[in-house]
Amino acid sequence: MKSMVTTQLENGRQTEVLLADDLKDLSAHLGEYGRLVLWVFDTNTVKLFKQLPPSHVVLESGESAKNFSSLERILSSALDEGLARDGRIIGFGGGVVCDMSAFAASVYMRGCRLTLVPTTLLAMVDASLGGKAAIDFQGMKNMVGSFYPASEVLISIDTLRTLNEKEFLNGLAEVIKHALLSQDEELYKFLLMRKNEILSRDPKTLAALVELSLKVKQWYIEQDPLETLGIRQSLNLGHTFGHALESSSHYLMWGHGACVAWGTCRALEAGVVLGVTDKAYASGATKLFKSFGYDIEYRIGRGDWIEYRDHLLKDKKKVDGNVRFVLLEKQGSTILMPLDLQLIQHLVIAKPIF
Ligand SMILES: NC(=O)c1ccc[n+]([C@@H]2O[C@H](COP(=O)([O-])OP(=O)(O)OC[C@H]3O[C@@H](n4cnc5c(N)ncnc54)[C@H](O)[C@@H]3O)[C@@H](O)[C@H]2O)c1
Repeated sequence: MKSMVTTQLENGRQTEVLLADDLKDLSAHLGEYGRLVLWVFDTNTVKLFKQLPPSHVVLESGESAKNFSSLERILSSALDEGLARDGRIIGFGGGVVCDMSAFAASVYMRGCRLTLVPTTLLAMVDASLGGKAAIDFQGMKNMVGSFYPASEVLISIDTLRTLNEKEFLNGLAEVIKHALLSQDEELYKFLLMRKNEILSRDPKTLAALVELSLKVKQWYIEQDPLETLGIRQSLNLGHTFGHALESSSHYLMWGHGACVAWGTCRALEAGVVLGVTDKAYASGATKLFKSFGYDIEYRIGRGDWIEYRDHLLKDKKKVDGNVRFVLLEKQGSTILMPLDLQLIQHLVIAKPIF
């Protein structure tokens, strides 16, 4: 195991992200925890194991499992297995399993040990780091939750071999977003130069990509661990435009990543129109998304505007009733501001600007 990133969070809490050489290395490390552990899988990630550990819970795969009944199942199993406060929950899966395991660990006996083994690209670069843990409630995403960083995050690039293309692209959109938010251009240049190796999932290339991406997330969460200073919100770049597309199309049209890619390009355009974002930078970033196959030119039909607008206005991240968008001033520098509805309408239904 090689150390990738060590993140310092609130109250001296620390998350160490370790990279396994291969699945054998990962299993050997996990074996060291002994028997006082409860594993959490979903119906897909459980298939990655030939021999299942004795204490485990298998959740349904997908977002619909982020609910109270999954939480109750994890907590009941922990209790049945006699897990004490010094016991450990190991979440082995994508962002859903990571979020569920972290939330359960945060409330079990007022907090037990937690290790996350992210198995999607999105969970590796995003969901496993930063301590946000939540379930969906009354139809609203991540409405009930806590901050509870894992002490260890174990990454094995080998687990990505079985991930389908749509899920891979979901994670890659967040990586490209991180490249724009980074304080330096290393990740941006890596994406430009190593596109083919990334898309063909060359393991060494992916390990380097995940590490660079995690370092960007690390920077933002260390600056603003509890998301109270307006810095960590920058990580929502593209999400307000993107979520509204995702929910107004009833999650049927595209994956989350494709919507984030699309939304980030709309935010770049908004910045250009308002004189906040440099036009050449926005154009380059848009081309970068396009080069990885995201449909950036798409615009919603005129007849879909009202539904899109209604979803946009329901955005959770409102301040004084205003939805605030993340705009990019330049590489790694953002500004949060409300946008005029007419401008939004123009951007999401008009012809492309670039
Ligand atoms: N806590 C955070 O900071 C944070 C950040 C971003 C996203 N999230 C949350 O993460 C969730 C999305 O995560 P996700 O995209 O990983 O979704 P997911 O966990 O639903 O995984 C996507 C699909 O891939 C399958 N899968 C996982 N690993 C696999 C593998 N190695 N091989 C084959 N199939 C595999 C899963 O079973 C599922 O069907 C959302 O609920 C979101 O709210 C949390």
